Amino acid sequence: MLIGIDIGTSAVKIVLTDLQLQVVATVDRPLSSQYPQPLWCEHDPDQWWAAVSDGLDELARAHPTAMAGVQGIGLSGQMHSLVLLDEADRPVRPAILWNDGRAAAEAAELMQTDIALRRAVGVQPMAGFTGPKLRWLRTHEPEAVARARSLLLTKDYVRLQLSGEKVTDVTDAAGTWLFDQAQRRWSPQALAACGVDPAWLPRVVESCEPCATVRDALAARWGLPRGVPIAGGAGDAAAGGVGIGVVGPGDGFVSLGTSAQILVADTAHRPDPERLVHAFCHALPQRWYRMAALLNGASPLAALASCTGGASVGELLAEVEAAYAGPSRLLALPYLFGERTPHNNPFARGAIVGLSGATTRADLMQAVCEGIAFSLADGLAALSAHTARPERLALIGGGARSAFLAQLIASVLDVPLVLYESADRGPAFGAARLARLAVTGEDPAGVVVAPAVRQVLAPDAALHAAYQPRLEAFRALYRAMAPVWA
Ligand code: XUL
Repeated sequence: MLIGIDIGTSAVKIVLTDLQLQVVATVDRPLSSQYPQPLWCEHDPDQWWAAVSDGLDELARAHPTAMAGVQGIGLSGQMHSLVLLDEADRPVRPAILWNDGRAAAEAAELMQTDIALRRAVGVQPMAGFTGPKLRWLRTHEPEAVARARSLLLTKDYVRLQLSGEKVTDVTDAAGTWLFDQAQRRWSPQALAACGVDPAWLPRVVESCEPCATVRDALAARWGLPRGVPIAGGAGDAAAGGVGIGVVGPGDGFVSLGTSAQILVADTAHRPDPERLVHAFCHALPQRWYRMAALLNGASPLAALASCTGGASVGELLAEVEAAYAGPSRLLALPYLFGERTPHNNPFARGAIVGLSGATTRADLMQAVCEGIAFSLADGLAALSAHTARPERLALIGGGARSAFLAQLIASVLDVPLVLYESADRGPAFGAARLARLAVTGEDPAGVVVAPAVRQVLAPDAALHAAYQPRLEAFRALYRAMAPVWA
C-alpha cells in the first residue's frame, strides 16, 4: 500500500493505493486562502497539517487493514511558498503563496543581477517566487526575519510534522528562485541576492528518494507500520507530470486547475528567461521541464459563477454550449491574480469588455472560457518560441471535465489534446508513484507511464482560424489595460 498526499491551494487530496497503484480510497479536505491586503495571498501552515492529519484519521477509520500495510508515503504541494520557522519550528508568520504579488518591486530589483544567474535558476525573478518574497520580508517585516531559523516549502512543512525532518526535493527547490537547476543544488549567488541565510535551508533530495520516516506516535495513531519511509516527493506541476507519465523528452500537458501550466519534459536544462518560461528540475534524476506558468487557470469560471449568482459553473457552461455560435463579441481578460507567463505582471486583473443591453450571463461565461483559452495560447507561444511546438498535449486538472472548454482550448491552441482515463487523480497520484519508486528502487520506466487514453480532441481548423483575430484583439486589450493597473 502507498499514500500520496497533495497539499494544493484550495484542498488537500490524499490517495491510498495498493503497490500496483490501484486506488483503494481518496479523501479531500478543503483549504482556505487569506487575502489580508490587495495583492496578498496567504495560508496558515497549521491548516495544512490539520487537513492532512484529519484526512489520514478518516482513512485509518475506514481502511484499517490497508493502512496497516502502507509501505511508503509521497508528498506533493503548491510550489513557491515562503514558510519561515523559528527555533521551535513554529511559523514566524503565515505562508506567502505562489499567487501573491507583494514582492513586485523586489523581483524588479533582482532583474539587476546577471543574466547568467537567471539562466542558472531557470526563470526571471517574479513576485510569486520564494526568494523575492524573502527579500520583501527583510524590508517590511524584519522582526519576522530576525526570528527565522529555517525555510520550507508547503509539502515540506507537512513532512516536518510527519517525520521531524527538514527536507525538500529538487522540483520544489526549483521553484524558489534560489536553486541551480542544472547542478540540482542551491545557488550561492541567488541566496545572497535574496538575503537567504544558507543555514535556514533544508536538505535537498531527488523526488523518488526515501528521505524520512513517519514518527512512531503518528504511526500508532493511524495504524501504520513503524518506520514507513517518506519519498522526496515533488511540487504539484512535476507530480502532475509523474501521475500521467509526462517525463520523456517532448511529452507535455496542459493542466487547468486553480492555476494552469503548459509543461514539456526534457532531458536537459534549457532556460529561456526572456520569454518568462520556467525551466525547472523534473521529478526523475537527469530530467528537467519547461513550463508556461499561468496564475489563473480555471479560477475565473468559479469567480464568474459566484458574481452572477444562482448558477453553478456546470450550469453556466451548459448554457454556453447550448447557445454557442462561434467566437464571442465580448472579450475577457482572466487575470484575477496577475499573470506570470507571458506578462510577469502581478498587477494585472480581470476584465470583460463589449457589454451591451442584450448581454446574458452565458455570454459572459463564453467570453471567460475564451479568455482562458487565449491566455493558454499566449503561454504556448512563449513556450514554443525557441523550440518545436508540441505535437499533442495531455489535458489534466478540474477544467478538463468540461468537454466544451477542452474542445475550445484544442481549437484555439491548434494542438490535439489527449484525455486520459482517471487523470483527475492528479498530483496526489504522482506522489504515490514517487513513493513506490522510493520503496522499491525500481526503474521508473515501468512505473511512470501514461494511463489509458479516453479521448483525443482534434483541433477544429475553421474554429482556429475564426479565433485568430479575437486572439489578436485579446492581446491588444491586455496592452490597453496594462497602464490602468500599473
Ligand atoms: C507553478 C505554480 C502552481 C502552484 C499552485 O509555477 O505556481 O503550479 O504550484 O498550484
